[in-house]
Amino acid sequence: MISVRNLTKRYVNKAAVDNISFDVEDGDIVGLLGPNGAGKTTTMRILTCFMPATEGTATVAGHDVFNDSLSVRQKTGYLPENVPLYLDMRVKEYLYFRARLKKIPRRDRKQKMGECLELCGITDVQNQIIGTLSKGYKQRVGLADALIHDPEILILDEPTIGLDPNQIRQIRKVIKDLGKKHTILLSTHILPEVEMVCNKVIIINKGKIVAMDTPANLMNQLKSVRNVVLEVKGDGKKIEESLSRVEGISSVVWREKGEVNEFIVEAVEGKDLREDIFKCIVKDNYILREMKRKAITLEEIFHQITTTETEEIQKNA
Ligand SMILES: Nc1ncnc2c1ncn2[C@@H]1O[C@H](COP(=O)(O)OP(=O)(O)OP(=O)(O)O)[C@@H](O)[C@H]1O
Ligand SMILES: [Mg+2]
Repeated sequence: MISVRNLTKRYVNKAAVDNISFDVEDGDIVGLLGPNGAGKTTTMRILTCFMPATEGTATVAGHDVFNDSLSVRQKTGYLPENVPLYLDMRVKEYLYFRARLKKIPRRDRKQKMGECLELCGITDVQNQIIGTLSKGYKQRVGLADALIHDPEILILDEPTIGLDPNQIRQIRKVIKDLGKKHTILLSTHILPEVEMVCNKVIIINKGKIVAMDTPANLMNQLKSVRNVVLEVKGDGKKIEESLSRVEGISSVVWREKGEVNEFIVEAVEGKDLREDIFKCIVKDNYILREMKRKAITLEEIFHQITTTETEEIQKNA
């Protein structure tokens, strides 16, 4: 569906995107994950024909983004980083206008609009002036705009940015539902978002791809995600001993926290030991008050991925 080969975008003194290659298959929901300035928007702008690449090629739905941009635009819906809307127009008017621009036949326009309004949860505000909508609702109008011509592929640049937690949940659900019919490439800098929504993740940093995998595999590779944090009531020393005997645990760190004990348990690679840990605690009649996987930030991911890479390079040298 999307095929990117050795794509580079160079500005005067630096490469915003540096020799990246990846594929998005039919029906995939792929997350482009990276910190500010990683090159996410640049990549998307090239794929949606808003900007030419300096080097390399990209095809979208079989069409070259440089030579056949009209076909690419017809088959993609794009939600840009800052949604450009006509603030003086009413939602309904705007979408109708966009439908006309996108050459949707007159007889289909009303129905298509109704579907998009419903899907994006903006039917109730269809008569409101866009300028008076909240940020989240403007974002939804942008999404409806991207969808109106029923494109095969959706390219969504940070679709949940600036939304409140409720709206984030709703938009993620909308995206997951859209994923059943469309192929989606979205960008984000929120790791849990990728875990919740995508079946493949591409991590990009300073214009380069640093990892590409399923979210589950990626999480497993990351050392600190394998850490489980526990709060257990009982004799700390004994609990520590019991936990250390669980097969697959590589280290247990014990900290007293008032009445309860906190443990940080690390598993060997590829193991999810939460069930074994639970059984171990229950078997010895201790009281488990909390068990959670250690949260990981994007910074930690980059640190881990880049240090592993450096270690490997050093090993192979
Ligand atoms: N027109 C331009 N001229 C010079 N440099 C640019 C231009 N557009 C983008 N850049 C640079 O290219 C790099 C990548 O920018 P890009 O907008 O693609 O990042 P991003 O991953 O989308 O970041 P964010 O999460 O902040 O949206 C940045 O360092 C940015 O400053
Ligand atoms: Mg961006």
